[in-house]
Amino acid sequence: MRSGVARSGARGDELPTAIGRYRPVRRLRTSPLAETFVALADRDDGISEVVAVKRIRPELQHVADARAMFGHEALLLSSFAHRGIVRLLESHATTSHGHFGLELVHGRTLPEVVRRAEEYGVRMPLRHAISIVASLAEAVDYSHVCISADRTPLCTVHADLSPANVTLAIDGTVKLVDFGMARSRMRPTQGRLQALGSAVAYMSPEQCRGETLDRRSDVYGLGVLLWELATWSRLYRRLSHDQVVARVAIGAVPLPSQVRADIPAALEDTLMIALQPLPQRRFSTAAEFARVLRQLGGAEDPRGLDAWVRRLFH
Ligand SMILES: Nc1ncnc2c1ncn2[C@@H]1O[C@H](COP(=O)(O)OP(=O)(O)O)[C@@H](O)[C@H]1O
Ligand SMILES: [Mg+2]
Repeated sequence: MRSGVARSGARGDELPTAIGRYRPVRRLRTSPLAETFVALADRDDGISEVVAVKRIRPELQHVADARAMFGHEALLLSSFAHRGIVRLLESHATTSHGHFGLELVHGRTLPEVVRRAEEYGVRMPLRHAISIVASLAEAVDYSHVCISADRTPLCTVHADLSPANVTLAIDGTVKLVDFGMARSRMRPTQGRLQALGSAVAYMSPEQCRGETLDRRSDVYGLGVLLWELATWSRLYRRLSHDQVVARVAIGAVPLPSQVRADIPAALEDTLMIALQPLPQRRFSTAAEFARVLRQLGGAEDPRGLDAWVRRLFH
């Protein structure tokens, strides 16, 4: 065992003994830029809370771009207060440490749910797919319109609405995580390192072309999520990174009914508006997309979704 580092299973997967005031107990994920852990946080009253901690990968700790990106994510999260967005546990003053604590979402990520359903030969009912994306669209819209403490618009665009960044809590709440790739007034263009982390299949055509993004780019990302949940398939299967980028950039999305014949026409029409290659032809806000989805049968039914997810895992 190296000093100050406890081994945890696989090689190269050590668990740090401490990250600031947090004590990691389990690694959630390692990505090219960040590491996320379940951790304990000791409170002043002696009680330990179970939380999530995200930190810059140790080898990037001193890279200015990585630190700026992390600080930006923390700054955005510190401005948000919405049940559909994971809550930051730090005060604004402590968000520049290269790590931050988050409320731990007790539940599963969307890929875990989809994979488990596939294993069991179960298919997600359309009403749950619509409800998940409607809830997400509402959270995303909140982030788009949120203003900073000094009352200036943040102009946030999440820019990374991939399934791994969507968690389903056991109470049925859908929570968005990971504003690491986000754009805002403080950081309007993609940093050099950000290109490493994004999931291209969920990017808008304008994002794939490296253009400046606005909130309608996220409408497209939400559209891809729903296209996949509603058709029980991946939009770009067995394609290389460069092939996906080329496909997305020209904006050629197949009709959902080509993949699943019983897709309701109204849902298909709605999806194809969200997935228009030209931003001006999409829903102009995520709130508008959410409203249409709620009318289509995505009425909020957290208990139904909750029960469905629980049945999969127990
Ligand atoms: N607050 C949280 N509660 C539970 N799981 C989380 C939380 N934050 C992140 N995760 C999990 O950790 C993964 C990585 O976190 P994320 O913020 O997406 O970092 P990255 O930038 O490495 O993608 C997520 O995909 C999710 O599975
Ligand atoms: Mg992520």
